Amino acid sequence: MTNIPPSENSYVVDQESATEMARLIDQDAMVSRQMGGLFPPDIDQGRVHDVLDIACGPGGWAMEVAFEHPDKHVVGIDISQAMLEYATAQANMQNLQNIEFFFMDATASLEFPAASFDLINIRFIVGLMWKEIWPELIKECKRILRPGGILRITDTDDALIGANSSEALEKLSILVTRAFYRTGRSFAVDEWANHFGLTPMLSNFLLEAGFTNIREVPHMLDYSAGAPAHFSHTHNLEVAMYLIQPFLRNAGIASQEELEQLYEQMLIDLRQDEFFGIWTFMSTYGEKSA
Ligand SMILES: C[S@@+](CC[C@H](N)C(=O)[O-])C[C@H]1O[C@@H](n2cnc3c(N)ncnc32)[C@H](O)[C@@H]1O
Repeated sequence: MTNIPPSENSYVVDQESATEMARLIDQDAMVSRQMGGLFPPDIDQGRVHDVLDIACGPGGWAMEVAFEHPDKHVVGIDISQAMLEYATAQANMQNLQNIEFFFMDATASLEFPAASFDLINIRFIVGLMWKEIWPELIKECKRILRPGGILRITDTDDALIGANSSEALEKLSILVTRAFYRTGRSFAVDEWANHFGLTPMLSNFLLEAGFTNIREVPHMLDYSAGAPAHFSHTHNLEVAMYLIQPFLRNAGIASQEELEQLYEQMLIDLRQDEFFGIWTFMSTYGEKSA
């Protein structure tokens, strides 16, 4: 992978930020553990040879697949030079011969020939997608999948927060969902809905694109005080809620002063012994008809 061109970015956080990359490395470990395995449990892994991870970030999931399955060839694509350089360096350090990373924009046509992959994985891209392009991306995935190939999309309907006991966190969640609505990223009916309305749409998008055997698997991350994921996910939120502030200001959702106050209060609330929070996300997957 050489000469990565610069590109316009639709992602709600600076994709070249080292802090965002560190957040994604930690989040990948936490989320993959919560999902309980690299692949959907009910697929025939023996039929999977070529794997694509779209918006792979620092490459954690893709590298795990390449490491655990030397018989499979894995490709990761992303638009961040920093993430791609890190992922490539990690793959070289681990001497993984069966993985490649490329610069490629998930919001445009994918530069792969038809029928190139047996499984496509997409996780947490709501922050870079405008609502109109979801069906286009799913059609592109169908084109580059082989017959019988699997597309799995894992995503969330809020800012990594879910139901929780912090008023400040709840307010930040509302600001993020409103900013997503105003910038054309949300399927919610209006800007007052405290969700993106994305995950209920995905099975229909897959159906409309001609996928079959569509399944939905919800995931639930308890990050209440005392829960095993408490430290990792509260840290994740602290970083994410800090890095997203320029996006919220630019969307005209809140002033710097308001955001700082909410952020300070959130830090206090997350450290309370009585804090509770459960964040949910969902995997939707289906097969390209043979
Ligand atoms: C929330 S992260 C998800 C990373 C990874 N899928 C995971 O679950 O750990 C979103 C990723 O999308 C990348 N990204 C942003 N805009 C993109 C675009 N237009 N095309 C491809 N990747 C993009 C970012 O650089 C970032 O790595």
